[in-house]
Amino acid sequence: MCGIVGYIGKADAPSVLINGLRRLEYRGYDSAGVAVLDEGRLVIAKAPGKVAALNERARADWPAERFSKSTMGIAHTRWATHGPPTEVNAHPHLDQSGDVALVHNGIIENYRSLRARMESKGHHFYSETDTEVLAHLIGDCDKGDLFQAVCDALHQVEGTFGIAVLSAREPEKIITARRGSPIVIGVGDGETIIASDAAAILAHTQRVIYLDDNDIAIVTAESIDIRDLNNIPVTREIAELAYDAAAAEKGGFEHFMLKEIHEQPDALSNAIRGRLDFNLGSSVLAGMGTSPRELAELGRVVLVGCGTSLHAGLVGEYAFEDLADIEAEVQQAAEFRYRNPIIGSRDLVVAITQSGETADTLAAVREANQKGAFVMSLCNVVGSTIARETGRGVYLHAGPEISVASTKAFTCQVAVLLMMALKLGRGRRFSREDGRNFAREIESIPALVAKVLLQNERISEIAASYAHNEHAFFIGRGPMYPVALEGALKLKEISYIHAEGYHAAELKHGPIALLVEGTPIIALACDIPGKDKTLGNIEECRARGARILGIVTEGDLEAAECMDDYITIPRCHPLVATVPAVVALQLFSYHVARHRGCEIDQPRNLAKSVTVE
Ligand code: G6P
Repeated sequence: MCGIVGYIGKADAPSVLINGLRRLEYRGYDSAGVAVLDEGRLVIAKAPGKVAALNERARADWPAERFSKSTMGIAHTRWATHGPPTEVNAHPHLDQSGDVALVHNGIIENYRSLRARMESKGHHFYSETDTEVLAHLIGDCDKGDLFQAVCDALHQVEGTFGIAVLSAREPEKIITARRGSPIVIGVGDGETIIASDAAAILAHTQRVIYLDDNDIAIVTAESIDIRDLNNIPVTREIAELAYDAAAAEKGGFEHFMLKEIHEQPDALSNAIRGRLDFNLGSSVLAGMGTSPRELAELGRVVLVGCGTSLHAGLVGEYAFEDLADIEAEVQQAAEFRYRNPIIGSRDLVVAITQSGETADTLAAVREANQKGAFVMSLCNVVGSTIARETGRGVYLHAGPEISVASTKAFTCQVAVLLMMALKLGRGRRFSREDGRNFAREIESIPALVAKVLLQNERISEIAASYAHNEHAFFIGRGPMYPVALEGALKLKEISYIHAEGYHAAELKHGPIALLVEGTPIIALACDIPGKDKTLGNIEECRARGARILGIVTEGDLEAAECMDDYITIPRCHPLVATVPAVVALQLFSYHVARHRGCEIDQPRNLAKSVTVE
């Protein structure tokens, strides 16, 4: 949710830290702060709002020499959980002495009792945050050894944390630790960078170490010493990041979202490349780690996720049933562990998550493991908590997704789910020829998407004429129903238009009461089974004055004639058509939001990765 950066080395720490925060801003962006050691003294700058506001504040308040001389510090960009996004609630937080500074991601669940205990000892708190309580606890435990103090404090903490701590009394080191909230350490040349996300490290090095839960590291400019909370040394391998800093830049596009929408042909090619076996008419997904026999014995597929990833799961549900004749269902990750799911060893539970860090999805993975299910993940971020905890699954290879509104991760999730369904299908009802045909359909996805992207200008013009609306409905049937849900989610996320996705048939069971002259209906009316019924539903809406934007199949004049406006997608298999159709809706939402002047990459109140329940 929030972003952490720590730096110790030879460069100008304030600039390194603030630049690092900029790269993490997509994780949370309601306030930010930075603490550096300046000639042995701890100095802090904080500001509500975006990292740009923090940069202005630090440059206005701090002497220029601080920028050239300070070579270590910690910084944070926040997504508020405890207390509003004010300057005083922004991290870093200090202990009672004012010598120890802490930045923290996660939630300290027992902070109230810890705070009461500290207050009874005379500690004074300025903020409403759980983080300040942890800072005080560390200071209270500090008897001259910061590392030991952090260990002792963390032993008393319930909840989750990714932290970076520095002390003016031990100016040559930063202590960092994690439980349930990621920490990555970049191994530079005479410098070490700590971050909650590799995106902040890329500018310095591609060599990184991922901490495991309950790891704590003593970090200097030259060394990284990792232990567990009982001070037993542990070994963690150095990994190479698979992408460079350019992948996390806008590359000439006005927004990350637009860049990521346009990256989809390449991202999809990367997700698909080498994974289709035309000889067997199947797919090769080695990370699933399953034998054909294990797959044949599966009784059910349960897909769990949140937000956009949940919608990808809904497309997957159709694919598993249609291609593999296997019972499939989607469960909201947030509900999974609370509804006592009936899950057993013949169930394949697939956690779908771009970030691999979403708290509810992680909890669902743990619950499914408890119940003895076959658990795997479908993640984008390599080395993320869920990827590592499931141990098996399929990476998306979509490249870094920075925009809060997910685009390329969704389409790559769908592509990978289609490949999974093909693999299961070949063990069940699909002949080799059926498999080959469907593999060819999957192979064509990047080109299908490229054809939709060619309509960018036209979609922008159409979007301009919808940008003044405050409500919109998205409708679809079959696999286009989840696309309608995803289209509505995209629009509301970034344009703040109230948008709802409905099954086309459900519209008349209530929502149709809301239609007035000009209400936009965005209809997924591609030429797939059920299209005629959707066209019928469109007529019902037109009769009530609604304005219809259709997503139709190229050359389908019958459908096009039912629409006030339309965007075309190429003719393809109904399951595959979900991908170009959603891309059309991504572009539509993007341009509506742009015409409305919205902050597209960082929408109000949202965050890229939601690491709280
Ligand atoms: C947040 C993001 C969404 C995303 C959801 C699940 O709400 O804003 O775009 O779909 O989390 O994230 P995940 O990383 O698990 O796919």
